[in-house]
Amino acid sequence: MSQSYDRGLIEDFGRWTEFSAGMWAWVFHKFTGWVLIGYLFTHIAVLSTATVDATTYTQTIQALEGLLVVRILEVGLLAVAVFHILNGVRLLFVDLGVGLESQDKSFYASLVLTGAIVVASVPTFLAGAF
Ligand code: HEM
Repeated sequence: MSQSYDRGLIEDFGRWTEFSAGMWAWVFHKFTGWVLIGYLFTHIAVLSTATVDATTYTQTIQALEGLLVVRILEVGLLAVAVFHILNGVRLLFVDLGVGLESQDKSFYASLVLTGAIVVASVPTFLAGAF
């Protein structure tokens, strides 16, 4: 006789306290992937000011880089990009069957390495911002 269990939707965010490391890795990878796509459009919009003339482009860049919020968002962008790359490479190894027994550890390593790189980048991104 077969039994069935109704466990509800594990993807339900109301159940985030039950999420495993792998679930958080999935959530962060999706989030960072789509943030990068969103940034790509913003990036193209800013670059396209060069089609007006060189002065418009330079003034746009200077105005944006003069805003503290933009400098802080740049640190966030680095965090998102570095995590996506490190976790993405980790996923490719997982797909190849490499390190299957240490998936949680490699996810934590991606997080720690991302944190270290982001902290190290702060002086560069915020140089002259205050
Ligand atoms: C070295 C750079 C990158 C690596 C190694 C990488 C790796 C990956 C991998 C392995 C996946 C599939 C994850 C899975 O199995 O579910 C993925 C998904 C994705 N990536 Fe990347 N990626 C990189 C750069 C980028 C960039 C630059 C963007 C955006 C411009 C991007 C956007 C996305 C999106 C939107 C997804 C799908 C997320 C979803 O599941 O909905 N990735 N990436």
